Amino acid sequence: MKFKLEATDPKSNARAGLVTTDHGTIETPIFMPVGTAAAVKAVHKHELIEDIKAQIILGNTYHLYLRPGLDILEKAGGLHSFNGFTRPQLTDSGGYQVYSLADSRKISESGVSFKSHIDGMKLFFTPERVMDIQRTIGADIIMAFDECTPYPCDYEYAKNSMERTHRWLKRCCERFDGTDAKYGYDQTLFPIVQGSTYTDLRKQSAEFIASQNREGNAIGGLSVGEPAEEMYAMTDVVTAILPKDKPRYLMGVGTPVNILENIALGIDMFDCVMPTRNARNGMLFTSEGIINIRNAKWQDDFSPIDPNGTSYVDSGYSKAYLRHLIISKEILGAQIASIHNLAFYLWLVGEARKHIIAGDFASWKNTMVKKLDYRL
Ligand code: GUN
Repeated sequence: MKFKLEATDPKSNARAGLVTTDHGTIETPIFMPVGTAAAVKAVHKHELIEDIKAQIILGNTYHLYLRPGLDILEKAGGLHSFNGFTRPQLTDSGGYQVYSLADSRKISESGVSFKSHIDGMKLFFTPERVMDIQRTIGADIIMAFDECTPYPCDYEYAKNSMERTHRWLKRCCERFDGTDAKYGYDQTLFPIVQGSTYTDLRKQSAEFIASQNREGNAIGGLSVGEPAEEMYAMTDVVTAILPKDKPRYLMGVGTPVNILENIALGIDMFDCVMPTRNARNGMLFTSEGIINIRNAKWQDDFSPIDPNGTSYVDSGYSKAYLRHLIISKEILGAQIASIHNLAFYLWLVGEARKHIIAGDFASWKNTMVKKLDYRL
């Protein structure tokens, strides 16, 4: 993997860059649609590529390990062959899902034991095992096995957990560096900064993560219920320490405003279930603000979903029609709304990139934040 820093904004820490993997180049800042179980819910690959302009998508180790399982993924020739998304893919390590989904979870120095949320099967993930699993899944970028601490989290717990995440990282690096990619293209491992909402822990973690000298770095443990101002404060502390010549990925963030503010703080990569999950419930993100399409006021509004939208669904269907589909639980409603929201997120980061390159990101960002600053 290579990273080329192309431009930095004169009035903020925003950056534009290029991340190159064996499956192609990603223009940053970028948003990665979430495809947990080898699928971005309700969205075809040609829609992802042609319409939404997705450059990279994200899968989850925990889900893929449980279903379809490693045998099938290996037989398929890896994740790209399996789901047909030929552009870059990233897998999260399960260091979040194990904590949020699995039952009867027990954490120890060696790893985490838990029960599958699907069939109750007892499982044990160690840092080494999670590296082996991600080698078999075959994403271009894979994540270290960490613990995502909840919010609020007391200082002692946050410190001990962060230190264990650091020890696990060393084990991840050792296993990753001691094994080969399976499918003829390279993989790279990103470590994850933790430390909850404590400035000193975040600094310590960022320094440790930077010292491991991997090709890119991630920030975890944010957007877990803390006020946005605390999230931004932590991002700011960490980006000041992480190397400038490597991509920075903020995990699980966020609203359009969260994304813009974190781009201003020097983040290059984002993922979040919000655009797809909220789409299925009828919440649409548009250039003029948020719309709940279930609202009765849209029932006879035959205007396009979003006249300023970049996707064909925006002009191809009316608000009244989409409202009908969502209310009736027609599958097509979830498809249209998901394409719309993802296209909006990709449009937003694409515009951010253009403004960073043009040198006027900070003022554009402030205008956009005012337009988009709805409370969810
Ligand atoms: N997704 C959102 N936050 C996190 C985190 O802290 N760790 C991991 N592995 N994934 C995440």
